[in-house]
Amino acid sequence: MSGDKVSQMSLRYIAGYSLLLFSSLVRRVLNQFYLLVSLTEQFAVIVWTPREIERYSRTYWNSREQVRNYAMLDDWLCATEQALVERYFLKDGELLNAACGAGREALLLSRRGMKVTACDWSPRMIAEAQRRAREANVPVRFAVADLYDLPYPEKAFDCLFLTNNAYSYVCPRRRRIRFLKQAYSILRPGGVFIMSFAPAVGSFPGKGISQWLFMRLKRSALFNRDYEPGDHFRYSFTHFFQPEELRQEFDEAKFLVKEWLWDQQYAVLAKE
Ligand SMILES: C[S@@+](CC[C@H](N)C(=O)[O-])C[C@H]1O[C@@H](n2cnc3c(N)ncnc32)[C@H](O)[C@@H]1O
Repeated sequence: MSGDKVSQMSLRYIAGYSLLLFSSLVRRVLNQFYLLVSLTEQFAVIVWTPREIERYSRTYWNSREQVRNYAMLDDWLCATEQALVERYFLKDGELLNAACGAGREALLLSRRGMKVTACDWSPRMIAEAQRRAREANVPVRFAVADLYDLPYPEKAFDCLFLTNNAYSYVCPRRRRIRFLKQAYSILRPGGVFIMSFAPAVGSFPGKGISQWLFMRLKRSALFNRDYEPGDHFRYSFTHFFQPEELRQEFDEAKFLVKEWLWDQQYAVLAKE
């Protein structure tokens, strides 16, 4: 190989290498910037009261963008949901699918023979779920309702289904307990509640400085006095549970834990 060719090749190599170096440097700077921006987002859980968190979450879940995202999900169940439904739900049972979104699980279970009622607090999600049910000719009864204000009589259902971490979207603890007590009351004795939550795993959500700071700020009336470790804000509110904490909430509503799938983010509760 001539000397000219060798030097051309090493020049090209250096040029390409410099481009890679530049892009990796920019990526690092952007990552730090992203971390900083998500840190500021965290402050929503201490600056807002539960009312304001609720107001924001309602708007978030009712946005056209979220409805579009969930309407794209066809009627399917993930492997864990599929296994639990087969194990615990009566094939022709009376089911309430709470926080049903655009109808993913409600449509499927109705098609399989269950008598399905479904509710969500987002009027747009419900309108989309109704449209899909009409189109598919599936007889689901829909309602716009909050998880902690369920409009159903006592002992109305054999089965209750709450998927996709939705228990963790309820803020604060007292509202989650209110929801669990209502869930208990609308289930028939022997009824089963398959529910999903977000578990705290590893160092997530951050336990360090932000938690220390928030625990101090919550002593002041200017801040969210209902803040609890595990409360987190990322796009929308989510509470990340420790196992003992979640078990205490189930106990308070008198639910019996039949199965505990911590890693899959599901629990199966029963009313005796
Ligand atoms: C992650 S989506 C899941 C939708 C559906 N279950 C699915 O898996 O496709 C969460 C749903 O919970 C609803 N939601 C959140 N908080 C709620 C509340 N407090 N009361 C009623 N619905 C709620 C939202 O409107 C949204 O439709």
